[in-house]
Amino acid sequence: MKKRDFILFYLNGERHEVRGAQCGLMLSEYLRIVKNLTGTKIVCAEGDCGACSVLRYFPYSAKKENIFLPINSCIATIAQMDGSSLITVEALGFTPVQKAMVNCHGSQCGFCTPGFVMALTGLVEKKICSKNISANLTAQESKNALTGNLCRCTGYQPIIDAAESIDLAKCESVNEKFLSVTLKKDLLKNLKIPVEIKTDDFYFMAPTKNITAAKALSKKNQLLAAATDLGVVHNKRKIKLNQLVSLHLVSDLYQIKKTKNRLSVGARITLAELRTQIKDLIPEFANFLDLFASPQIKNIATLVGNVATASPIADTPPFLLTMNTTVEIQGPKSKRTVPLESFFKGYRKIDLKPNELITALHFDIPQKNEILKLYKVSERKDMDISAINFALRLSWSDQAQTEKNLQIKDLKIAVGGVAATTLRLYKTEKFLINKSPTAENLEKAAEIIHQEITPLSDLRASDSFRRIVAENLFHKFFREINV
Ligand SMILES: Cc1cc2nc3c(=O)[nH]c(=O)nc-3n(C[C@H](O)[C@H](O)[C@H](O)COP(=O)(O)OP(=O)(O)OC[C@H]3O[C@@H](n4cnc5c(N)ncnc54)[C@H](O)[C@@H]3O)c2cc1C
Ligand code: FES
Ligand code: FES
Repeated sequence: MKKRDFILFYLNGERHEVRGAQCGLMLSEYLRIVKNLTGTKIVCAEGDCGACSVLRYFPYSAKKENIFLPINSCIATIAQMDGSSLITVEALGFTPVQKAMVNCHGSQCGFCTPGFVMALTGLVEKKICSKNISANLTAQESKNALTGNLCRCTGYQPIIDAAESIDLAKCESVNEKFLSVTLKKDLLKNLKIPVEIKTDDFYFMAPTKNITAAKALSKKNQLLAAATDLGVVHNKRKIKLNQLVSLHLVSDLYQIKKTKNRLSVGARITLAELRTQIKDLIPEFANFLDLFASPQIKNIATLVGNVATASPIADTPPFLLTMNTTVEIQGPKSKRTVPLESFFKGYRKIDLKPNELITALHFDIPQKNEILKLYKVSERKDMDISAINFALRLSWSDQAQTEKNLQIKDLKIAVGGVAATTLRLYKTEKFLINKSPTAENLEKAAEIIHQEITPLSDLRASDSFRRIVAENLFHKFFREINV
């Protein structure tokens, strides 16, 4: 079968074929060192500050939108950029976004400025593409779009003022310049061809089929999704990403499928895309995702990657554990499906062999008679890792219900940050099912929670804080639903 031995992307409209070990560079390094595009800054090198933001278009997605989205170039490898069109700050020209930053004094030392400009341009693009330019940007939507950008000098007010003053009617979409029909055709043609790059100290392969990827995976060759976890490990712990298998060419994995009661989310679906697609279907989860990282991270990070990290404080597993999630797994010979409960085996341990990969997650869509609430407690509201996260899903018994005889028919509780893995609180659930949520029963249940969890103290929170918060969130849930 025909294979490519190069990574293809367009950078500021120019076609690039990258070969050999350069494919293992981080995109920010490639831009600054190889291309001398030093407008893209490297400050934190771990996805936190947004100084390295660039805009990226990638042809495959569930909705097939033609939109450039901001991502962090410091934690993305060149290999992953295969099939993309990328824009750096140099190529924008002096746009209304930059004019607004100048007019409102939104820049002092300037280190963060290119990142702010790229993030704001991303927001402007979103508005233009959704044809929503009748009103200018609001302070709140600008703040939301800038949660992944840090400035140590100006303070944020001048930057927010700049955002609000941008005249959207005068903004042109970057698509005009950087997304021609020929460019898209070229990318789509090449995305159908598998990639294999071998050098003495770098190996990267991207097949077009899951089974071929499974055959290529091993203890040495690890699976790379968006690298928002792996890229940080590479930069900060100096663990090389030099033996990689990527699923970005497997077009089947860019699917979100809905049946009556269930949703299937393919391994390549990003958190941003998921949020858009479930906005009306599972609003509680969609709103919860607003507290997950930054737009730059969510525009590329996958839901499946969040599950596969098996971090006890990952934010999506509590929701997924209350939703009867099953994990669809592809091996070198066959497929299998396991419940998420048994998929988490221990601290950062999952039920996945070195030559297996996750193809999709399937989970319940909450029904009208159910109540779902999700909570995240972290030191900061935005852009912070959870100290504890909590999910509760409840349905009442079908019998005639008055406030006095409410009875719990089904209850699922999952908590992160209180054990080696995200926990389902089976004992607490069992105690409360078929009971009324009286003050006495809820107190007893809180005592059971106390026994079920085994939190540790770490830099995010002490064990006693986590215990108190777990119990308080449990009580908060019942208070919020007015029982
Ligand atoms: C600044 C910053 C903020 C963050 N904020 C949050 C936050 O608020 N909440 C939170 O929970 N997380 C957060 N994260 C962590 C991270 O963004 C998520 O865990 C993300 O979902 C990982 O997805 P990815 O596609 O980038 O995975 P990658 O980094 O590519 O991979 C992560 C792991 O999953 C494995 N993997 C990926 N796909 C598959 C597959 N299909 N089959 C088998 N294994 C697979 C990889 O081999 C790797 O071991 C943050 C990270 C950063 C850098
Ligand atoms: S350099 Fe800080 S997010 Fe990339
Ligand atoms: S202007 Fe200096 S960090 Fe923002």
